[in-house]
Amino acid sequence: MSPILGLNSPTASANAARHVAIIMDGNGRWAKSRGLPRTLGHQAGVNALKRTVEAAPELGIQWLTVFGFSTENWRRPVSEVSELMALLKRYVASDLDRLEAEGVRIRVIGRRDDLAPDILAVIERAEARTRFNERFNLQVAFNYGGRADIACAARAYARAAIAGEVSPDAADEAGFERFLSTAAGPPPDLIIRTSGERRLSNFLLWEAAYAELVFQDVLWPDYGPEHLKAAMDEFLARERRYGGADVDDVRAAG
Ligand code: IPE
Ligand code: IPE
Ligand code: MG
Repeated sequence: MSPILGLNSPTASANAARHVAIIMDGNGRWAKSRGLPRTLGHQAGVNALKRTVEAAPELGIQWLTVFGFSTENWRRPVSEVSELMALLKRYVASDLDRLEAEGVRIRVIGRRDDLAPDILAVIERAEARTRFNERFNLQVAFNYGGRADIACAARAYARAAIAGEVSPDAADEAGFERFLSTAAGPPPDLIIRTSGERRLSNFLLWEAAYAELVFQDVLWPDYGPEHLKAAMDEFLARERRYGGADVDDVRAAG
């Protein structure tokens, strides 16, 4: 347990963000600033991921979704794409035993049909071995794109309608979102993006509807528990209204 956190920290309160999602950005710039190849930035990024997964439960987080590879990241050089694929394999190889023993359930969201058989096997093994775990949920978005996921869910919903399982006239938000790859968990309360970029880059488009967004300037390989705690503290200072009015204002207005 990290000494700076501790279970009595204010962030471990009932209002803590139950589901935090992170766009882990800045690996390339971290490497470039050190005169290193981008692949070394991604390797350092895996260590930041390990630190973050370790720290999350202490902060009251039950679900952590991390963006590891987007449907648009195929546009990168082949060598970089290969390294990102290899890193997923190495992360699972080095950490699966520990994550399984610590009660972490792993889920991987994103398109599977264009992943290589060895990557698919790694994903299926990680999910199968942790499927009865309940202490903490780690969701890895890999070959994930929000639009692709929505289109995939729309196809599945249409198929269910053709099969007579749902009536097209009864189609609604709750019925639709059961087909999203994130259906197993709650929507994110907080979405963090590192590296100073301020965009979603096709991450959790449907699910982000009422998420609080926190942008941090730190490059992902430098990320640690203190940054996660700072993001959680900023989240706690926000007022979430979901389209309603401020409770005190309503009272004051009589
Ligand atoms: C994030 O770091 C990791 C992935 C997208 C896989 P980047 O590789 O995007 O780093 P920058 O944005 O080029 O610094
Ligand atoms: C989003 O970051 C994808 C991941 C973090 C895996 P990118 O670095 O690919 O996004 P853009 O290109 O800056 O929008
Ligand atoms: Mg980037």
